[in-house]
Amino acid sequence: MNGVAESRRELLRFMLGSPLAASAAGLAAWWPDSVGATPDLAVPDSARRALDVFQIKAAAQSKLGLAPWHFIVGGADDGATMSANRRAFDAWQIRARRLVDVSRIDTGVEMFGEKLSSPIMLAPVGDQQFIRQEGELASASAAARRGHVMICSTVSSYSIAEIAASANGPRWFQLYPSRHRPFMKYLIDSAEEAGSRVLVVTVDGPTIGNREAERWFRTRSDRGAVRMGNFETYDGKKGIGDPTLRWDIVAWLRANTQMPIVLKGIVTKEDAALCVEHGVDGIIVSNHGGRQEESGRGTLECLPEVVAAASDRMPVLIDGGVRRGTDVFKALGLGARAVCIGRPYLWGLGAFGEAGVARVLSLLDAELKRIMQFAGTTSVDAIDATRIVRA
Ligand code: FNR
Repeated sequence: MNGVAESRRELLRFMLGSPLAASAAGLAAWWPDSVGATPDLAVPDSARRALDVFQIKAAAQSKLGLAPWHFIVGGADDGATMSANRRAFDAWQIRARRLVDVSRIDTGVEMFGEKLSSPIMLAPVGDQQFIRQEGELASASAAARRGHVMICSTVSSYSIAEIAASANGPRWFQLYPSRHRPFMKYLIDSAEEAGSRVLVVTVDGPTIGNREAERWFRTRSDRGAVRMGNFETYDGKKGIGDPTLRWDIVAWLRANTQMPIVLKGIVTKEDAALCVEHGVDGIIVSNHGGRQEESGRGTLECLPEVVAAASDRMPVLIDGGVRRGTDVFKALGLGARAVCIGRPYLWGLGAFGEAGVARVLSLLDAELKRIMQFAGTTSVDAIDATRIVRA
C-alpha cells in the first residue's frame, strides 16, 4: 500500500519533526519498536547504507534547511494531486509468472534510436544549486556513470553547456515556453550544440502552481542566490512562461530544431490525439509532480487513455510518484516506455550529493530487476498488460 505507507511515514516524520528525529538513535528513543522492523524510518549516514529511497528522503530532511526541503517536497494547494500520484500505484497489482529462466534480465530500452540501459530517467528539475552547491553537475555525473538519461531543465543552475562539459551521459533538454521566441530559439540552439538528443517541451505551465510551503519558506534572497546558467549569456529579452501558447507551437518547434520533440505534461486522450495530429515525437504523461494544477488525478490514472490514443505512434513516458521498482513495472505494464523520477534523486542530491543520486538510481534499478525476476519477465518488452491487474 504505497500511498498509505507513505502517508504513515509522513505522519511519523511530522510527529518526530524535532532535531532528535534526525538521528536513528533519536528515532529509536521516540519509537523504540520501529527501528529495524521498519528500516525506512531510519536515517542512513551514507548513501551506501541506504536501503530504499525513503531512507534517503529521511537523510535529506535531516540535512537540508526548511527552504530547500519544502522546495523539493511541496505540492500545489493541499497536495492532493501529489498524493494521488503515489496512491494510483496501489490500484494495480502484479501478476507473477513462475518457472521462467530469469537468470539474465535485460532492463535496456530503445528510445529515439538509442539503446538505454534502464527505463528510469532523471526528470528535469531546475535550481538544483539551491539543494546543493554542485547541483545539476552532481546529478549529471551520477546519471552518466550509470547510463541513465538526464533531462536538463531550462532553469537549471548550471547551463546545458556546463553540464555537458562535466558529464558525458545521454542528455535531453527540457524547454519552458517563453513569450520571447528568439530566446526560445537561443535555448534550443544551445541544447543542440551541447549534444542534447531530444527536446522535451513542458506544456503544463500556463501559470505557476500554488505551492504554498515553497512560497512561505523560500525568500526573495534565496531565489537571488541561485544561478540560472542558461540565461546568463543571452542579452536580449528573456523569461519563461507564455499563457498564449497553442498547438501551432509544435510547427514552430519543428522548424527550429532537428531534435525529436516530446511534450511533457499531457494527461488526456484528447491532447494525446492532438500530439499525433501535430506530429509530436513523444509524450511524457506528467502533472509536474503535483506542483501545477490541483487536479486530484494521479498520472498513472491518466496513462491508459494517453497510451490508447498515442502509443502506437510514439513512445509514451510517465512521471509522478515513482518510488519503487514495482512502480516502474506497473507503469511499463500500462504501456509506458520509460519513467522519470523527480523528488527521489533530489533527496539523494540533498543528502549525499552525487553519491546519493547514484544510490537512488542503483536502488531503483535493482528493485526493477528484482520484480522482473519475480514476475518472470526477462526484458522490459515482456512487461505488458498481461502482467498487471487492477487491485
Ligand atoms: C520539478 N519539475 C520540473 N519540471 C520541468 O519540466 N522543469 C523544471 O524545471 C522542473 N522543476 C522542478 C523542481 C522541483 C523541485 C520538482 C520536485 C519538480 C517536475 C519534474 O520534472 C517531474 O515532473 C516531477 O518531479 C515528477 O514527480 P516526482 O517524481 O517528483 O513525484
